[in-house]
Amino acid sequence: METRQALFSPVRLGAIDLKHRVVMAPLTRSRSEQPGDLPGTLMREYYTQRASDGGLIVTEATSISSAARGWYGAPGLFTEPQVEGWKSIVAAVHAKGGKIVSQLWHTGRSSHVSMRGGNTPGTASLNPTYWQDKTNVVSTPTGWSPPSPHRALTITEVQEIVGEYREAALRAKAAGFDGAEIHSANGYLLDQFLQDGSNHRTDEYGGSIPNRTRLLLEVTETVASVWGGNRTAVRLGPSGTFNGMSDSDPQSLFGYVAEQLNRFGLAYLHIIEPRVKGNVVVAEGQGPVAAVQLRKIFKGRIVAAGGFDADTAEAVVRAGEADAVAFGRHFIANPDLPERIRRGYPLARYNRDTFYTFDAQGYTDYPTYSATMN
Ligand code: FNR
Repeated sequence: METRQALFSPVRLGAIDLKHRVVMAPLTRSRSEQPGDLPGTLMREYYTQRASDGGLIVTEATSISSAARGWYGAPGLFTEPQVEGWKSIVAAVHAKGGKIVSQLWHTGRSSHVSMRGGNTPGTASLNPTYWQDKTNVVSTPTGWSPPSPHRALTITEVQEIVGEYREAALRAKAAGFDGAEIHSANGYLLDQFLQDGSNHRTDEYGGSIPNRTRLLLEVTETVASVWGGNRTAVRLGPSGTFNGMSDSDPQSLFGYVAEQLNRFGLAYLHIIEPRVKGNVVVAEGQGPVAAVQLRKIFKGRIVAAGGFDADTAEAVVRAGEADAVAFGRHFIANPDLPERIRRGYPLARYNRDTFYTFDAQGYTDYPTYSATMN
């Protein structure tokens, strides 16, 4: 018997038709093939295991250019072999009836020279406290490391980055994805421009809320010009503090962002609840405050994420506060998560120690529920 009827009713996210609302959240897992940041056969097996009929997968964050790289093991979407690798993954997900969108990523200051051919990472403004703060670390070919010192991007460079998003959006299309999600959360480049703790610029990309939002809107415009608004999505982390983020007035900032995004007719707005910080829950049991607040402003579909279980996800959709719910950590340990939630089967526990390791262990060896019953 199906008890989770809200989660298992169909929904249309822009042009993406889904049979259920249990979305796989974007999850960096560091398993691309090196060198070359290639989505290979191990990644294909992982995504195929997690695909479900009429379900949506958001890929792990994917570097839009070689200059966008900041996480060793993350895949890219800036070379032909990478496009070929993604093609094979997308085809496998489609063969199971699933949908898959590519999460487009630029790490900005959250990077290391060893990931960028020796070049200094660029961001909105110079903030030495970011790389001096021992809690900020980045993944490099030789292990976890403090981020490298960064510098402020020139206006010309900012505009070149918009062009890199366009190129990546075109490659995502060539790979056959169902759409593209712009990663504007968790303290990466676009978030670094949005929030005033990291953006102290005095040009048209800094200062006022409209100026700090400019880059995200330019990127959204260019991605939507490739994909159409109804296959373009944006992920935000309102009040997110991971990666050294802070803002003096997050309510006004993210309210403005959501309102401006209305003009694109997006597939969905993906909202991370502030109760999670990166991959750690900081406020257990707190309700979906960010989705509830932005629901009043954003006119399209909302996918909520962060700290949900089957019951709270069903409740948030039933209450009309979100149209779908993205699960991160539960999807790591439960390749058949939609089926488990639908049938009320118990969920397997994830092992944090293998989130970011480099092989099949803790990646493709979590069994389905039916396999555990045999
Ligand atoms: C993440 N998260 C994340 N978010 C994102 O936008 N792009 C990404 O690549 C990643 N990578 C990532 C890796 C790992 C191992 C974890 C645990 C998390 C955040 C993720 O999408 C989600 O917002 C959080 O995990 C909170 O949701 P859950 O896990 O409570 O369902």
